[in-house]
Amino acid sequence: MKPHPLPGIVVLISGSGTNLQALIDGVAEGRIQGQIRAVISNRPQVAGLDRADRARIPAQVINHRDFPDRDTFDRALMTAIDLHQPDLVVLAGFMRVLTPAFVTHYQGRLINIHPSLLPDFRGLHTHERALEAGVQQHGCSIHFVNTELDGGPVIGQARVPVLPDDTPQTLAARVQQQEHRAYPQVVQWFCQGRLTLCNGQVWFDEHPLQAPLELPIADQ
Ligand code: GAR
Repeated sequence: MKPHPLPGIVVLISGSGTNLQALIDGVAEGRIQGQIRAVISNRPQVAGLDRADRARIPAQVINHRDFPDRDTFDRALMTAIDLHQPDLVVLAGFMRVLTPAFVTHYQGRLINIHPSLLPDFRGLHTHERALEAGVQQHGCSIHFVNTELDGGPVIGQARVPVLPDDTPQTLAARVQQQEHRAYPQVVQWFCQGRLTLCNGQVWFDEHPLQAPLELPIADQ
């Protein structure tokens, strides 16, 4: 009998790829039962591409600057992704707004990590804005992507305290530590079939989520 193939994952990046690394490590250590089939970056020469190379994962640059508009870039991206027939497309620090056509094409199998407790601080510069707002808690959210920017149904969130002497950098580092624990966990759940999107709602272990999961969850 042929072994059941592992769920296929394509990871999109734009930069340093520390979340990509957490996923690579998760696969290598058996915490993610999936196969990262490709890494695609919209920026050339970023550190995330070296991480993919070191892990012997096919890595490709599709530079958005080579395309006249968002539609043609997204179409090229879709073609490149679909060659790998992924079950899941993971945005890991991918800093491009995606077109509705792209988002619709991958509906239910496209997830993103955002460095804030959504719906607070959508968009950019989340750590600066959290400090300016004087919040006591900050964190990251992992969500299914829909056509609303950082507005898709939230799967889970990891919280960190904001400390009195925090700078955007110290706060970002604290949030990123949590990102690296939370994202592999969510990706594993998706690979196990425990996590789905149904009529715009997140389902976990065959129940609709009433609130985002608090991540990371021990012993999962
Ligand atoms: C991460 O902190 C991620 O939450 C954020 O970019 C960083 C990428 O770091 N994503 C966004 O801001 C998306 N809007 P990494 O390249 O080291 O994983």
